[in-house]
Amino acid sequence: MFREIFEEELARKTVFKDPGKLLPDYVPKALVHRDEEFRQLTRVFRPAIESRVGQRVLITGSVGVGKTVLAMKFGEELAAAAKKRDMRLDFIHINCRKQRSPHMIMQELANRYLKLPPRGFSPEELLKESTRWLEKHDAYLALALDELDFFIQQNGPDLLYSLTRSGEELGALGRISLLAIARDQSFLRSLDAATQSTFMHNVVQLDRYSAEQLADIMNARVKEAFKVGVVEDDTVSLIADIAARWGDARLALELLWRAGMLADNEGTSAVTPEHARKAKAEVHPEVRKEALGELQLHEQLALLALARRLRISERAYALTGELETAYRVVCEEYGEKPRSHTQLWGYLKRAEELGVVDLRFTGKGRRGLSQKISISVPDVPVAVLEGELERLLKARSKA
Ligand SMILES: Nc1ncnc2c1ncn2[C@@H]1O[C@H](COP(=O)(O)OP(=O)(O)O)[C@@H](O)[C@H]1O
Ligand SMILES: [Mg+2]
Repeated sequence: MFREIFEEELARKTVFKDPGKLLPDYVPKALVHRDEEFRQLTRVFRPAIESRVGQRVLITGSVGVGKTVLAMKFGEELAAAAKKRDMRLDFIHINCRKQRSPHMIMQELANRYLKLPPRGFSPEELLKESTRWLEKHDAYLALALDELDFFIQQNGPDLLYSLTRSGEELGALGRISLLAIARDQSFLRSLDAATQSTFMHNVVQLDRYSAEQLADIMNARVKEAFKVGVVEDDTVSLIADIAARWGDARLALELLWRAGMLADNEGTSAVTPEHARKAKAEVHPEVRKEALGELQLHEQLALLALARRLRISERAYALTGELETAYRVVCEEYGEKPRSHTQLWGYLKRAEELGVVDLRFTGKGRRGLSQKISISVPDVPVAVLEGELERLLKARSKA
């Protein structure tokens, strides 16, 4: 019985050649539309190769603009260019959010070079041992610290300070180059002036992708992941338009993958715009934690108030007055001082720009001050929005 099911499933038609090529961790053969940024990185790292002087760079950009994949591709080329010149330079990429503690990060680094017991060394000692190893073997390291902003928010700057200073203290200036990766530059403010300025000198800012760029990225990936001719051009255009609102290639590729899965479920041999629309309805891009995570604390609180108000009232719209009341309650719950009416209005405007809320002016009052503004959430179940926001706010209060 199970064998039959197994064989039946394997015999099923599929639109995919290799769906794994659409998964977030896959590093594609080529990056499109990032030549200029790649060139900028190369210029920054020229002295690391030519004069063996460690470099520091900060790569910034919102979710899905290719920060991680650009760093990986650059690291590959950097190591290869060094090797060609008889220099040993390793590239190591560490996701700081996933690893979390400073100890785990330094342990991962040290494990590349040394066999050390899992306990008994402080992060600083682990770094010192790794640096000694590099010295001894005349080797160099380019270390990418991905999602560093989250890490510093949680753990403070000590680890970064040790890394930027380790070379100086050991007289080994330049063994370790750093590629910091963050959503924006604001985390630098929590660092001391010297560290701030080293990074601020070399910032490679990745802008959000346009719909055209997203279509190019998808088309390149379609060739790797799908059978020839199954993905309709309109499907790619539609997904590109949806994802362009956030400029997010990760979202585009996820929607493409889901659209393909939906086509497979139906047993059809074409991935159509209707599959893309259904995929979007599954993902609710407006309320993904990545999208909501870009909002400020009080923007999140205001949205949570709105979601609750809409859920409890069971109506499609809420009025500004109702929202203000709900917002004050939410602020109290999270121990925050409510902001002014005008500020609250600003939060709503920003949420509207991000597509999370719809504002409708029903009264004649001045824009923004009218009590007759109705606020709603576009085609997203408010319970989904509420749940995501509560999770985000909880994670925030732990940080
Ligand atoms: N220019 C590009 N060309 C091809 N694929 C890309 C490009 N930019 C991003 N991607 C893909 O989009 C997804 C998101 O990119 P990622 O590097 O994870 O973004 P970020 O780290 O900025 O959130 C990944 O699957 C990545 O391979
Ligand atoms: Mg990333």
